[in-house]
Amino acid sequence: MADIPSPSQARILIIDDEKPVLEVLRAMVEALGYVPTTTQWAKEGRRLFAKLQPEIVMIDINLADGSGIRLLEELHLVSPTTAYIIISGDARVDNPVEALRAGADGYLVKPITMAALRGEIQRVSRKQRQIIARLEDKAVLQQELENRTRQLLVESGVSAAVQRGLIMALCRLAEFRDHETGTHLHRMANYSKAIAEGLSRHPDFSNQVNDLFIRRLFATAPLHDIGKAGIPDHILLKRGPLNDEERAVMQRHPIIGTQTLETVSKEVRGEAGGQVRMGMEICTYHHEKWNGKGYPYGLAGEDIPLSARIVALADFYDAVSSPRVYRPYAFPHEKVCEMILAEKGEHFDPQIVDAFFEVEDEILRIREAGKDNLDITSFESNEANEANSTPVTPPSEVPRL
Ligand SMILES: [Fe+2]
Ligand SMILES: [Fe+2]
Repeated sequence: MADIPSPSQARILIIDDEKPVLEVLRAMVEALGYVPTTTQWAKEGRRLFAKLQPEIVMIDINLADGSGIRLLEELHLVSPTTAYIIISGDARVDNPVEALRAGADGYLVKPITMAALRGEIQRVSRKQRQIIARLEDKAVLQQELENRTRQLLVESGVSAAVQRGLIMALCRLAEFRDHETGTHLHRMANYSKAIAEGLSRHPDFSNQVNDLFIRRLFATAPLHDIGKAGIPDHILLKRGPLNDEERAVMQRHPIIGTQTLETVSKEVRGEAGGQVRMGMEICTYHHEKWNGKGYPYGLAGEDIPLSARIVALADFYDAVSSPRVYRPYAFPHEKVCEMILAEKGEHFDPQIVDAFFEVEDEILRIREAGKDNLDITSFESNEANEANSTPVTPPSEVPRL
């Protein structure tokens, strides 16, 4: 969120399971000149949060369908620049320290007076400005990336091959900072395509996974980590484990990537628009897990777009089956298959895992062919000749998943 809006623009999401309290808070927030949205449910709160991107979120500490603190932790992970106010029913029972540790910026105890509400909103808004100032460097980087993206992709009249080239070039900009080569992107695009082709033969997927879907997936899977261009160097390039705060910043990369592509999506039409929209899906959801334990939204099952579910498996396979900077060897294919099976129905969609094994020969062929050191030109010409779709990419370095 780029700036603190004036009260008349600021959106405040209020999540409280007591309907009468919710109604009173809505009226008070409105009277103060803000725009309230309310829900009684944590699940609905997550959805509204993703859709509205409110400046301030107020969360009751105890919700009917989960803990308010747990919800706060999740949302704070996704957007540390949003201001969060925890609402407590009883200050003697609830623990403000726990709320502050989870990322709360403010704390209100019921019954909430108008003066207390106004004071707390103003206080957290000031704090939010300071956080945003600290993240200014990142915002400048992101703006730069958006400008490059716009420049590259707005030309919707260019041929599909050139569009592909532009997308790959853009992704390389992001991956370059992450010490990645384009080879990971090429391989995982090919793996995604192979898995999708396997799925297309399944009656549950044959309608959705048609030729257009597969072409778009192949073109846009490489966009998955584009948001890493907006992560500061000292976190992105850090050797060794990230601390909690660094991890929270790193886990913003799906949202940064989506926001970047969002600016482009408004300006392109036709097939380029379709590709950008799928790119946004992949950016946003490629770290979600089938069991709901992923990020940024903790979506589960079929709530996660199919494109992102496929890319999640392709990205995992390539990351583990290729050497890393800190692990100069690749796990053997059989070992990676064991890992994938162990995560069937947990990290990965079970039907996508089945499709992966149905096209296992093709996966191995892609991996083997990837050992050749081919460049982007040969990648494009390969793709143009789909009948002879010998994939590309040498394994060298792989990204942090
Ligand atoms: Fe990622
Ligand atoms: Fe990746």
